[in-house]
Amino acid sequence: MAIKTTMFDLTGKVALVTGGASGLGKAIAAALVTHGAKVLIGSRTQAKVDAAAKELDAIGDETGEDAVAAGVALDVTSDASVDRAVRKAVDLFGGLHIVVNSAGYTVKKPTFDLTPDEFNGLYDTHVTGSLRIAQAAGHVFREQHEGCIINLASLGSYVDLIEAAGYTSAKNAVLGLTRSLASEWAKYGIRTNAIAPGVIVTDLNRAIVEGTDRGRRILEHTPMARFGQADEIAGAAVYLASPAGSFVNGETIAVDGGFLASGIGDSTA
Ligand SMILES: NC(=O)c1ccc[n+]([C@@H]2O[C@H](COP(=O)([O-])OP(=O)(O)OC[C@H]3O[C@@H](n4cnc5c(N)ncnc54)[C@H](OP(=O)(O)O)[C@@H]3O)[C@@H](O)[C@H]2O)c1
Repeated sequence: MAIKTTMFDLTGKVALVTGGASGLGKAIAAALVTHGAKVLIGSRTQAKVDAAAKELDAIGDETGEDAVAAGVALDVTSDASVDRAVRKAVDLFGGLHIVVNSAGYTVKKPTFDLTPDEFNGLYDTHVTGSLRIAQAAGHVFREQHEGCIINLASLGSYVDLIEAAGYTSAKNAVLGLTRSLASEWAKYGIRTNAIAPGVIVTDLNRAIVEGTDRGRRILEHTPMARFGQADEIAGAAVYLASPAGSFVNGETIAVDGGFLASGIGDSTA
């Protein structure tokens, strides 16, 4: 058993975080850097990526490290873009050991109105996008017999999120992909896990949950009676990526204030 101080140490590791310029991805990237990793963050908006990378790089200034974070324009729906991002991580930081699939968005509308293109678009980003990243990084991981894939699942992986059939279907598939990779690629030294966050107010859902009836009902069903903070998701990612999580494979960790554990009962108020 590793000594306590090295359990969560990511020194010498390189991570690629998709969707890493905002919300959960950015908080996870910050936590990985804080624990010693070098991180490349990517999303489609170059200016957003550059600004976030600068902020993350400042964490390295505090610890005396130089160049701990960088950004890349990345669209996970494009094979070429994904390949470029993986190559950039390796070229810039000398390797790749961790990928976090945090790129995503949602569509909330009655399912009668959901178009096949909208449905397929959600699937392409959340599921096929995660597969593209896993495959591109997987080649590097297999070569070095070491790699960690972390997917972002959702409450919607387990329960219906009303009028979000495309998102919910995709997040169910993320669990399937996580289990498939976990069992198939363990022999290459690759561990694949997921995190299922409860509701964290971010750009993805602000308009849907902040001050809305839906938001109130979510809080009512959450034993801790609040939304989470992005930072509260990041610890699970550090755990999964670090020596502390070295025997964890195919698992999805819910970080949700008790939402999924909660059944029917009196109000928590
Ligand atoms: N917030 C929650 O309550 C919650 C709960 C459960 C699960 N999740 C999941 O956690 C992940 C992160 O969500 P978040 O709340 O942090 O949302 P967010 O703040 O909106 O971040 C998601 C990021 O993904 C990027 N993105 C979208 N499509 C992309 C693409 N095709 N290629 C590359 N980047 C793309 C977006 O940036 P660009 O527009 O610049 O590309 C955006 O900054 C998502 O998978 C989401 O489903 C969130």
